[in-house]
Amino acid sequence: MRFISKLTTLVAFGTVSTATAIQKRGPTCSNVSFNVNINVLNFNLTGLDPNNLLGTFGSLPNPTLGVAVSSNFHIAGRFCEPEVVNPSRQNTLQFLVHGATYTRDYWTGKGFNGDQYSWVDYASKQGYPTLAIDRLGNGASDHPDPILVVQYPAQTEVLHKVLQAIRSGAGNSLPRQFSKIIYVGHSYDSIIGNALTSKYPTDVDSIVLTGCSSVFYYTNQTIAGLAVFAPASITDPARFGNLSPGYVQTINLDGVREVFYRAPN
Ligand SMILES: *[C@@H]1O[C@H](CO)[C@@H](O)[C@H](O)[C@H]1NC(C)=O
Ligand SMILES: *[C@@H]1O[C@H](CO)[C@@H](O)[C@H](O)[C@H]1NC(C)=O
Ligand SMILES: *[C@@H]1O[C@H](CO)[C@@H](O)[C@H](O)[C@H]1NC(C)=O
Repeated sequence: MRFISKLTTLVAFGTVSTATAIQKRGPTCSNVSFNVNINVLNFNLTGLDPNNLLGTFGSLPNPTLGVAVSSNFHIAGRFCEPEVVNPSRQNTLQFLVHGATYTRDYWTGKGFNGDQYSWVDYASKQGYPTLAIDRLGNGASDHPDPILVVQYPAQTEVLHKVLQAIRSGAGNSLPRQFSKIIYVGHSYDSIIGNALTSKYPTDVDSIVLTGCSSVFYYTNQTIAGLAVFAPASITDPARFGNLSPGYVQTINLDGVREVFYRAPN
């Protein structure tokens, strides 16, 4: 679209086209998917009521690993080839994982102010291919039981299998293979990236952790944070009516500002 409007502008002003003017801008992207099979032990959160997460969380015994998850999952994502060819980077894939309350769109800023907030567009200008996935339970990927299945041991295993598929070229619809992979995580997915590289140190060549700290301050904001979520099936039934109430959505902009940005400070 941007390309077309630029051309239109040039035509309107009668500018003679130059090589620069007709050069393609922006990355070239396509949807890709992975089918992965995992066998892993999750925490036993039996007793956590998706209709009353806050009320039942405190009364749970200290969760222990013990519930086996043995399943196939479909993981969706968006692969982008960069607009700039840089031979030293073109075979290095940035593997982008979005954070708890987002999807792959976190990495493009959904076009707000053009590409000002787009990691994908910036990487493209630097010559890096990117793959932004929807993590299990988010976006266009599968939405299994949010309490018993969508936990970090299963998430870690799913990402491990996705990365193995990228390395081997099997079980995915990516157009090509890569010699290096950089894991880039945001927030919760920085924590998962940390778990992944501890368990599987050779899955990626390097790791970038954003929105994350080595210490976790459990503040009043953390507790208030839980109250800014409500079952998505109730808050947006048209989109999420078929999901278990354990899938939640942020409902309160002021609350989100306070929890994530420490408003009013
Ligand atoms: C999970 O916990 C519940 C209740 O806390 C218990 O009854 C059940 O046996 C546990 N299941 C496993 C597989 O440990
Ligand atoms: C790619 O996937 C997204 C998310 O599911 C969807 O909204 C979009 O329509 C898909 N695009 C194409 C070209 O299939
Ligand atoms: C949390 O709130 C309580 C009561 O409102 C207050 O006494 C306490 O200092 C607060 N703690 C933090 C870490 O802000």
